[in-house]
Amino acid sequence: MKALGIDIGGSAVKGAPVNTRTGELLAERHRIEVDDKMTPAQMAGVVGELAAHFKWSGPIGVGFPGAIEDSTIWTSANLHPKFVGCDGAKLFGKATECPVVMINDAAAAGVAEMRFGAGRGFLGKALVLTLGTGVGSILAYQGVVVPLELGHFPWKQGKSAEKYVAAAVREAKNLSWEEWGERLREYIAELERLIWPELIIIGGGVSSKHAKFFKFLKPRAKLLPAEFFNNAGIVGAALWAVEKK
Ligand code: BGC
Repeated sequence: MKALGIDIGGSAVKGAPVNTRTGELLAERHRIEVDDKMTPAQMAGVVGELAAHFKWSGPIGVGFPGAIEDSTIWTSANLHPKFVGCDGAKLFGKATECPVVMINDAAAAGVAEMRFGAGRGFLGKALVLTLGTGVGSILAYQGVVVPLELGHFPWKQGKSAEKYVAAAVREAKNLSWEEWGERLREYIAELERLIWPELIIIGGGVSSKHAKFFKFLKPRAKLLPAEFFNNAGIVGAALWAVEKK
């Protein structure tokens, strides 16, 4: 079984064909730079280009950084506002001429990590956070992944927490690992107070640098970096393409 997994983000759209039985990439991933001002039509063009790169015909899963209900995109905090209300399966299906299934980007990462990565075999309560342009979040329990929007937890002055703790904020504000780690520690402590996860998995590109900031986080739960690092979104979107009911 194979499917094309595509991960849409604010700086790039990435994808690769995936063996959905093992989670392995079947070809080197392809990355196309984008900017966060692209309209849905422009982004669909990029997704079409990505599928064409792999001469793909078959199921496609697309991870998108927003709240997704079936295939409708309901929020677009870090991409063009015109995505709100779009039917992603139709938009990207037309561009690729393939059947497309939509999933929230963090949910895709969560599905991959819980199945084949850092959370494999863990059936307790796990919180997966992806740190990138925004903060993605899911809870997994007994193997079921539930997409959340904890990046928009009201934080200082009522702003979305992701404006304070996302990996992009560390870069934009030139924070040291310790300064950023301290912000993250506070945020995770608050989430722990509400959710009581037993395991916390940190994903997103920055998870490959976990040695630099995990020491500042000090959660109650066991803390692990994502095993797929930045490929979790691609792998999980591909799994979703063949598994969504
Ligand atoms: C979006 C989420 C997304 C996260 C990570 C947030 O701004 O609202 O849906 O999972 O960013 O990309």
